[in-house]
Amino acid sequence: MEEFAGQVAVITGAGGGLGRAHALDLAKRGVKVVVNDLGNADAVVDEIAAAGGEAIANGADVSDVEAAAAMIDAAVQQWGRIDILINNAGILRDKSFAKMDLADFRKVVDVHLMGSVNCTKAAWPHMVEQGYGRILMTTSASGIYGNFGQSNYGAAKSGLVGLTNVLAIEGERKGIKVNALAPTAATQMTDGLIDEDAAAKLGPETVTPGAVFLVSKDAPNGVILGAGAGVFAVSRMLEAEPVALPADELSAEGVAAHWDEISDLSNTHSLGSAFDQTSLYVRTVTGDAGNKG
Ligand SMILES: NC(=O)c1ccc[n+]([C@@H]2O[C@H](COP(=O)([O-])OP(=O)(O)OC[C@H]3O[C@@H](n4cnc5c(N)ncnc54)[C@H](O)[C@@H]3O)[C@@H](O)[C@H]2O)c1
Repeated sequence: MEEFAGQVAVITGAGGGLGRAHALDLAKRGVKVVVNDLGNADAVVDEIAAAGGEAIANGADVSDVEAAAAMIDAAVQQWGRIDILINNAGILRDKSFAKMDLADFRKVVDVHLMGSVNCTKAAWPHMVEQGYGRILMTTSASGIYGNFGQSNYGAAKSGLVGLTNVLAIEGERKGIKVNALAPTAATQMTDGLIDEDAAAKLGPETVTPGAVFLVSKDAPNGVILGAGAGVFAVSRMLEAEPVALPADELSAEGVAAHWDEISDLSNTHSLGSAFDQTSLYVRTVTGDAGNKG
């Protein structure tokens, strides 16, 4: 993919783990990279320079609106544009919901969700002006499927799926593609959570090819890509075949009576936007359900 040469990327939380692996891969392809992290960004910049690439370090806390905006400005000032933003920075504050204090809930939402919003908000006008941009959000299976002890993290990561869905629609006509990566990798974040044998297969570099594809010129739009151990799979929300209840069953009892049908996922609809759902339901009651949304 020579196409990357000369492009400019900002990668948050790239001082280690997945962000570092994404930064090294893109730098090798000739992308100039802002390596953002609260720590260790300089070491990754040195690594990139030693391999003949170009990078600058940035220590912004992505949850700080002004610092995030200044980071994007620094990229544009240095290299005149920003083609790629990978929102990857993150932390964990796991506890069961009963034991979690709201400060820990807010902190995780601030870093993952608002941190991604802050960086994206600053990069967006530059991408609109250029008529080109690639933005990658880092979501998680915890946000898509749930995971015990991660109500804060799951809510933030699920919020990123919602953000991706909307920005993919809003960016489409402006040359901006927005996707989400749901990685699984052995990093400091998962240290002690993954056994040694699995960890050996789950190096961050086994995820990075998916991230790089999603920020390439050929990227799809509005996709969630699961990635880990060199395995890749798209995931998405699906609607069951809609069931129109007859007027005399339009009650909670009617929903209960038809629950098997309502929750039957053997024939699903993949919807492109919120109004696709509205029109699917209206077509269902008007008897035109065969025309899938
Ligand atoms: N490792 C996994 O299995 C896994 C699974 C699902 C999602 N993720 C997501 O992937 C991303 C990368 O995680 P990782 O596994 O490489 O972990 P990691 O801890 O190695 O990397 C996260 C980096 O973000 C930095 N960071 C934290 N808060 C920051 C802030 N406010 N501003 C700037 N930088 C900040 C940290 O210093 C760290 O270097 C995270 O968003 C994480 O939630 C990871």
